[in-house]
Amino acid sequence: MKKTMIGLMKEAPVKGDYVLRTDLPVPEIGDDEVLIKVHCTAICGTDLHIMEWDSWSEKHVKAPLIPGHETAGDIVAVGKNVKDRKVGDRVSCESHIACGHCWFCQHDMAQICANMRLFGCNVDGAFAEYAKIDAASTFLLADDLSYEAACMFEPMGADIHGVEAAEVEGKVVLVSGCGPIGLTAVSGSKTLGAKMVIACDLFDDKLEIARQMGADYVFNSGKVDLPEEVRKLTGGMGADAAIDVTGAGPAIISSIRSVRPAGRVVGVGLPGKPVALDLANDLFYREVELTGISGRKIWQTWEDFAKVMSGPYYKLEQVMGGRYALKDFDKALADIRGGAPGKMLVYPNEADM
Ligand SMILES: NC(=O)c1ccc[n+]([C@@H]2O[C@H](COP(=O)([O-])OP(=O)(O)OC[C@H]3O[C@@H](n4cnc5c(N)ncnc54)[C@H](O)[C@@H]3O)[C@@H](O)[C@H]2O)c1
Ligand SMILES: [Zn+2]
Ligand SMILES: [Zn+2]
Repeated sequence: MKKTMIGLMKEAPVKGDYVLRTDLPVPEIGDDEVLIKVHCTAICGTDLHIMEWDSWSEKHVKAPLIPGHETAGDIVAVGKNVKDRKVGDRVSCESHIACGHCWFCQHDMAQICANMRLFGCNVDGAFAEYAKIDAASTFLLADDLSYEAACMFEPMGADIHGVEAAEVEGKVVLVSGCGPIGLTAVSGSKTLGAKMVIACDLFDDKLEIARQMGADYVFNSGKVDLPEEVRKLTGGMGADAAIDVTGAGPAIISSIRSVRPAGRVVGVGLPGKPVALDLANDLFYREVELTGISGRKIWQTWEDFAKVMSGPYYKLEQVMGGRYALKDFDKALADIRGGAPGKMLVYPNEADM
């Protein structure tokens, strides 16, 4: 077993890009942990925030840190208390490392654990050849699931959690926003039993992809009156549920107005600022429920997402971007900053891609 490895470091709690290091110690695992040989790790918007050292990072990130939290690889060592994982297991990782004993963990809400640790944010992550994590935070991969697909559980899972919260089975579901996460909600709603999926975005090319990923009807909400179009499709009633994946105030309000009385609206997209709502008219008189989700239900969302990935609507190639050796992280970053679409993956154990 080697003693050192290559990896990226966020070296100090100030603005600055990650630095490539060739001399990092291979992590030593505790009794409840596993060591993973990383196959690939996806780059997240959060990584860009950490480099910027924004106010979120100031609160949630510790540096020095090995970042990277959307990963998949092979277990190469297990701690002495670990019973249900073994060397050779292929796994992905839940980045929200829950404590297991707080009130929320005890009530099946580990995704909002009161003592949450964040893989690749306040504990070392997976932009490196090896990463360690609690065995309880690993998800076993089916043989036919690629490492690349497995890296999507974490970033796209919030959306499947949104689909779960909308209880889509047998329902007419509106999905607002057809970015990579919204597209996952479209295919997720369809695979998990929605009767009809209506998708909207401001860009026609995104709507075309939504159609390929299971949307029955698509609307450019910049060009039509969306609540009116939804009512036309539903005999005047409105949708049973709506999932907002835009985080945009006007889209959230339009989702609320597109659901029927006693319908449910689930927020997945995160508004960057407060959104003013007409609570009396849009929610209370109509008894519309408005809720939101954070992260993934552990492990319900992962199991549901695995079904969606192996179903007929999910198209990995539509959410995937470029692939890079870890040492070429700067190139990946330049592509992201230049507007290249899709999730970028880095491969720490490959010299070249
Ligand atoms: N709740 C969570 O735990 C969680 C986790 C991960 C991501 N998110 C959030 O999910 C959201 C979506 O992520 P993404 O990567 O797909 O983002 P994205 O920016 O690629 O997609 C957003 C889409 O919404 C569309 N849009 C914007 N305004 C609109 C409007 N008024 N009407 C219709 N469409 C509109 C955009 O054209 C775009 O296609 C982000 O807000 C992100 O912060 C939440
Ligand atoms: Zn992420
Ligand atoms: Zn907890």
